[in-house]
Amino acid sequence: MISSNAMLGKGVVIHHPELVNLYGCTIGVGTRIGTFVEIQKNAVVGSDCKISSHSFICEGVTIEDGVFVGHGVMFTNDRHPRAVTPEGTLQTDDDWSVVPSVVRRRASIGSNATILPGVTIGEGALVGAGAVVTRDVPDHAIVAGVPARIVGWTHDKPQPQAEAAGSSGRVS
Ligand SMILES: CC(C)(COP(=O)(O)OP(=O)(O)OC[C@H]1O[C@@H](n2cnc3c(N)ncnc32)[C@H](O)[C@@H]1OP(=O)(O)O)[C@@H](O)C(=O)NCCC(=O)NCCS
Repeated sequence: MISSNAMLGKGVVIHHPELVNLYGCTIGVGTRIGTFVEIQKNAVVGSDCKISSHSFICEGVTIEDGVFVGHGVMFTNDRHPRAVTPEGTLQTDDDWSVVPSVVRRRASIGSNATILPGVTIGEGALVGAGAVVTRDVPDHAIVAGVPARIVGWTHDKPQPQAEAAGSSGRVS
């Protein structure tokens, strides 16, 4: 289902419109979206991105141009989610606030990665399959694992901080 309030740029490719769920979001020119993808209101996906099947892009996520999102990638926007208030009534939009995340241009996110709220994944960075990203990822870093740690740097632009990341290798 593509809601009438989803704003799709020219040349967006969605092979099976009946098998996606897009509402209140903005999708840039030429981006390709696989089956069973959900993109929520107020999420922004840039131009020339590839969003692979079964991924979930929630409210508050901004994805810049040329980003690859693998299969089954889960974004999140609430660090301490609850179904109900302390009084036991169902939560409404007034009971929590969206924590935004950003994926900078030309980054790639491997399949089944989970992106915790409030992180920035840097330009050209590469998130390994199955990683849980809990902290910001520097530009051009390769991160993997749970929690995600720096395991290398992409060849397109090696970063001198690689050694400075040192023994902990934890994403900063
Ligand atoms: C993280 C990644 C970029 C590393 O690739 P690479 O640099 O070629 O690294 P290697 O395959 O040589 O692995 C190096 C080490 O990291 C480990 N490793 C590789 N990928 C890993 C991952 N996703 N999570 C945890 N560890 C990983 C390997 O087991 C290996 O460990 P070892 O040295 O103890 O044997 C890659 O494995 C990956 O996950 N890419 C994403 C793939 C994907 O999801 N594609 C989406 C659509 S098809």
